[in-house]
Amino acid sequence: MFVTLEGPEGSGKTTLCVRLERMLVNKGYEVFCVREPGGTVIGQQVRDILLDQDNTSMLPETEFMLFSASRAQLVREVVVPRLESGAIVLCDRFLDSSLAYQGYGHRLDVGVLEKISSFVTSGVTADLTVLLDISPEQGLRRRQQDPETWNRLDAYAIDFHERVRKGFLCLAENNPNIWKVVDASQSEDEIFTTVSAMLLNELSKRGI
Ligand code: TYD
Repeated sequence: MFVTLEGPEGSGKTTLCVRLERMLVNKGYEVFCVREPGGTVIGQQVRDILLDQDNTSMLPETEFMLFSASRAQLVREVVVPRLESGAIVLCDRFLDSSLAYQGYGHRLDVGVLEKISSFVTSGVTADLTVLLDISPEQGLRRRQQDPETWNRLDAYAIDFHERVRKGFLCLAENNPNIWKVVDASQSEDEIFTTVSAMLLNELSKRGI
């Protein structure tokens, strides 16, 4: 089963991913956690270019192609082989981040991005996508408390982050069978409890 975690800056995906992995491993599942951009040797190099705060002149189109390049490597090298071996793959961001950030945020044509993304992933899509929804003000405030994690994209204007949030909500609304929206202004424990229950429910529905 392929599970993706999505959400704006500071929504707590990364912490949640670690806790979900631990919970599932304790229950005896084989789990593999990856993050985007990155998750492979080449993807990690692409990540460094994307998040480098000196790359202020990077075009939205360049951004999209670099995220896609990292994704192509991740899908072929990690996601598909792990899914084929029967593992649960938890992915911290996937192609919907490109639709939300580069599509809704930078206003690139979402239809074009969807077509290229489908080519990049050879049609691999999530079985379950959890959206951790939070306002940009609250999310960015959390990020600013941890200068280590502050990156080039965090520095875009607040209205960019507003469009990203709306984009995610729109994607969720268009595909309610796959997307589950969680209020990420709650405490870490509350979010973990809610998402764990969702995930275990989906696994049992599939007889996994
Ligand atoms: P990261 O430090 O991993 O942030 P987060 O903890 O919020 O996931 O940085 C990833 C950044 O890249 C984040 O600002 C979101 C952005 N991003 C895109 O703009 N498009 C994409 O396709 C992906 C995967 C990420």
